[in-house]
Amino acid sequence: MSLPPDTLLARFQALDAFLLAHQPLWRPKPFTHLTLPWETAHPDLANWLRARTLDQAEAEHNHPELLTAPAPYPALAAQAKALSEVPPLSTGALQPCHSRLNVDVPGRKWQQIEAFADALTFQHPVTGWLDWCAGKGHLGRRLLQPGQALTCYEYDPALVKAGHALSQHHGLNAEHRLQDVMASDCCLPVDKAAVALHACGDLHVQLLRRSVHLANSQLAIAPCCYNRTQSTQYQPLSRAAADSFLRLSRDDLGLPLSETVTAGARVRRQRNQSMAWRLGFDLLQRCARGEDEYLPTPSLPASWLGKTFADYCTDLAALKGLELASAIDWAAAEAAGWQRLAHVRNLELVRNLFRRPLELWLVLDRALYLQESGYQVRLGLFCTTALTPRNLMLLAERPKAFQN
Ligand SMILES: C[S@@+](CC[C@H](N)C(=O)[O-])C[C@H]1O[C@@H](n2cnc3c(N)ncnc32)[C@H](O)[C@@H]1O
Repeated sequence: MSLPPDTLLARFQALDAFLLAHQPLWRPKPFTHLTLPWETAHPDLANWLRARTLDQAEAEHNHPELLTAPAPYPALAAQAKALSEVPPLSTGALQPCHSRLNVDVPGRKWQQIEAFADALTFQHPVTGWLDWCAGKGHLGRRLLQPGQALTCYEYDPALVKAGHALSQHHGLNAEHRLQDVMASDCCLPVDKAAVALHACGDLHVQLLRRSVHLANSQLAIAPCCYNRTQSTQYQPLSRAAADSFLRLSRDDLGLPLSETVTAGARVRRQRNQSMAWRLGFDLLQRCARGEDEYLPTPSLPASWLGKTFADYCTDLAALKGLELASAIDWAAAEAAGWQRLAHVRNLELVRNLFRRPLELWLVLDRALYLQESGYQVRLGLFCTTALTPRNLMLLAERPKAFQN
């Protein structure tokens, strides 16, 4: 199954209207604002969220739609859920593979590859594969069937070398090419179906643009990292997105990725401490500068979390050329950081409702661009969110007759 092709534009427009109407709810980041502009309009919701604990926020972080919060939360959650509904793609395309092909591939990555391959069907037979930003080419090797050829594009020489060695080891017909896919002369072997599993921002967009330009007839992508892009403002691909009034910064494009994968207790504690201390420092720097504005700070080595909170703040202030007040109650300042973290995490639940709608808006922009360029497009899920939250897959095929 997939989203019916003739509904893609209508879904895009509905998402566009939803995102435009509620910009004040998803644009400002609780991490950088002491109070959010929407809190005055929705005091019941804001107070309710602010009364909750950090643990409560974390329980719903990846499923904000399950929270029973005051209005307008439930209506927004229902609308976000309905607009984000995407069916799973039909499966059954997974072919038997060479034994031990998964040696050297982390378990979860291999499951993603198999799920991607299982959903990868085209109407016309595939004569060969192009694995775009292939890493060691695990996906390409998994797809390769007798009689087909594989080309892998990758710009990290160590991965190209390791990929080549693996393909040789398995006796497979594969070329691992050292290729910067962003290079203006990057060609596509148009007799091959191009696949890109989790090629970041500009990298998968480049595949779409090159495919359209060079009349490649089959491609399949699972996009990720929409914010890894050279442009500071989002560059729409389709006519529908170009006509939209939605302007997205690189920072906005990070929203779909803010879903955290389940981490172990130690990693979670470290991540929380790092954020609570940053927020604690933020309160102190606002006083020191006499300016009620967030001050960006650089990412710090993990060893900084081994300092006392007092040393952490003093050293960070020195790094920013700031002098903190002389008498600080450090225990109270640290507790304030943790309290702010609980507020931030709970207030973020509102913003998180827009994560999937924004992601789908972006993927539909890609789908519509391909549709406008003569491709038959299918958009669906290739695996569960538990396997990877970046589980949307776009399959595009262009009838040979359309090729120029
Ligand atoms: C997130 S990994 C995905 C790898 C593989 N598709 C997978 O699913 O395991 C992205 C890959 O793109 C490669 N890459 C990044 N920029 C590139 C470029 N400009 N040209 C070619 N490959 C690039 C990276 O070295 C990395 O191997």
